[in-house]
Amino acid sequence: MSTSTLSAPQSAPCDLIIDTDPGADDLVALLLAMACPAELNIRAITTVAGNVSLGKTSRNACLAREWAGREDIPVYAGAGRPLVRKPVHAAEVHGEEGLEGVAVHVPRQGLASGSAVQYLVDTLADAEPHSITLAMLGPQTNLALALVQQPGIARGIKEVVVMGGAHFNGGNITPVAEFNLYADPHAAEVVLASGVRLAYVPLDLTHKIITSDERFRQLAAIGNQASKRVVGILDAYVKHDMDLYGMPGGPVHDACVIAYLLAPGLFSGRRAHMTVDSREGPTFGQTIVDWYGVLKRPANVLWLNDGDAQGFFDLLSARLARLQ
Ligand code: RIB
Ligand code: CA
Repeated sequence: MSTSTLSAPQSAPCDLIIDTDPGADDLVALLLAMACPAELNIRAITTVAGNVSLGKTSRNACLAREWAGREDIPVYAGAGRPLVRKPVHAAEVHGEEGLEGVAVHVPRQGLASGSAVQYLVDTLADAEPHSITLAMLGPQTNLALALVQQPGIARGIKEVVVMGGAHFNGGNITPVAEFNLYADPHAAEVVLASGVRLAYVPLDLTHKIITSDERFRQLAAIGNQASKRVVGILDAYVKHDMDLYGMPGGPVHDACVIAYLLAPGLFSGRRAHMTVDSREGPTFGQTIVDWYGVLKRPANVLWLNDGDAQGFFDLLSARLARLQ
């Protein structure tokens, strides 16, 4: 089985929709993405309940847009709860407002009218075949609802890149489940069953791409507002995982998705067969990856499990330097 089937680096700008629950690491991912207009043509940002409530994730997405000077990008609010269960939040990790280490305020520009789900249905239905990439940085509820409403929209999707899941690493909200999958495993199953081209950026990878004192100094040396905000947000955010795991630094989960779109060669993985456990019980939200192909089932995801950590921080620093 090949060890890496990474897509070739993008030549033309990638038509991209970012679905997100900001969230500290989402904020970093959004700033990184919005700093790269020549490579990422961000059609819209869609928000979902996850780290905090939908009202706060939507406000934080609008703040990210304002801080990046990209108020040309519409923000649509989506689902306020998962498909089946009640909402699960992570305010103990991201703070009550979903962002710590930076002052939040009412954004200059508000949300676009209409729901994120309808925006996804309309945009993907009208898109050229396999032309639009989706970066899923939170629970996959919005995309699942759009696929249930109009399954044919899958045709407009080029690739879905998901921050989520864990196999070798173990979970971060239960011993086996990662937060985004745990928050809505039913939605992840709908997306998986749709047959769209899928890449997962799981904890197996993001826990290898972690901050350090030197990397914080690298980011702070940029010296603009964006880097000051990223340093403040990450400094507050990584403490939780450093304490929990006893790691020397903390992961920047969602920004790894954007880095994969910008520089896929930084990462490696393997196509494999993955299933999601949505049964109530101790394995609720677990992603099971048949890494060695023992089940002889067709691969349905590209499971990324390794990367160049310094290369990631060099890319993040270089692109943040483009912002104000
Ligand atoms: O498990 C990490 C993921 O859950 C990240 O996307 C973080 O923002 C939270 O949504
Ligand atoms: Ca997130």
